[in-house]
Amino acid sequence: MNKKEDFAKRIIIALDVGNRGEALSLINQLEGVEIFKVGLELFTAEGPSLLEKIKALGKKVFLDLKLHDIPNTVAEAVKVGVRHGVHMLTLHSSGGREMLEKAVASAAAEADKEGVEKPLLLAVTVLTSLKSDQLREIGMTDDTFSQVLRLAKLAKEAGVGGVVCSPQEIEIVKKETGRDLLVVAPGIRPLWAAAHDQKRIMTPSLAIKKGADYLVIGRPITEAPSPQEAFLKILSELADS
Ligand code: C5P
Repeated sequence: MNKKEDFAKRIIIALDVGNRGEALSLINQLEGVEIFKVGLELFTAEGPSLLEKIKALGKKVFLDLKLHDIPNTVAEAVKVGVRHGVHMLTLHSSGGREMLEKAVASAAAEADKEGVEKPLLLAVTVLTSLKSDQLREIGMTDDTFSQVLRLAKLAKEAGVGGVVCSPQEIEIVKKETGRDLLVVAPGIRPLWAAAHDQKRIMTPSLAIKKGADYLVIGRPITEAPSPQEAFLKILSELADS
């Protein structure tokens, strides 16, 4: 595998669109992308049949529903995710140890039963949209870094395979939790792309250097005049860095 092919497998495209037509149009334009992220908006609009369609196109699904509920409910939802053949699935670390452990066990048991690949569970730590005054308002008095680390360590102890965190936290999470816990980073912006509403951004090359295993990229690619060209440009920049 050459360098570009390796990086192509590590770029996840965020399908932040409202319907199936727009999602499929992007997928069809993005040759070489392997993983597509379906979030709350698109999943609520189109449901599981879209996931089946994405898989039928030979692509992998990252189902980003950020599950957070009582342990039994999350474990059952994870089972359904396994049956839909999702490759990656998110849940909130703040749901607590029991919720995380039950989710991990239920993913493994259901994958075994169905004879399918076990999805990679990813824990969301602190939402990057929350600023410190808002965190205090909901009772989180620690600084954000400490809270992210606490929740990343908890996820690791519970057997979760990876975490989603902002580019600024990649290095510290890798350092403090070890290499095995995979790090998925959104908030990625090439130098030539607009920041949009993202506050703490990083270029693809720097995020990879800091230790990110996967990059989630939305608008710099999906809203580019040519999504395929934007994707290839990012791959070239990564390969040259
Ligand atoms: O368009 P953009 O590249 O900003 O998209 C980033 C994607 O990553 C979006 O789907 C967004 O919801 C998601 N995300 C994020 N920050 C987080 C967690 C997820 O931007 N902390």
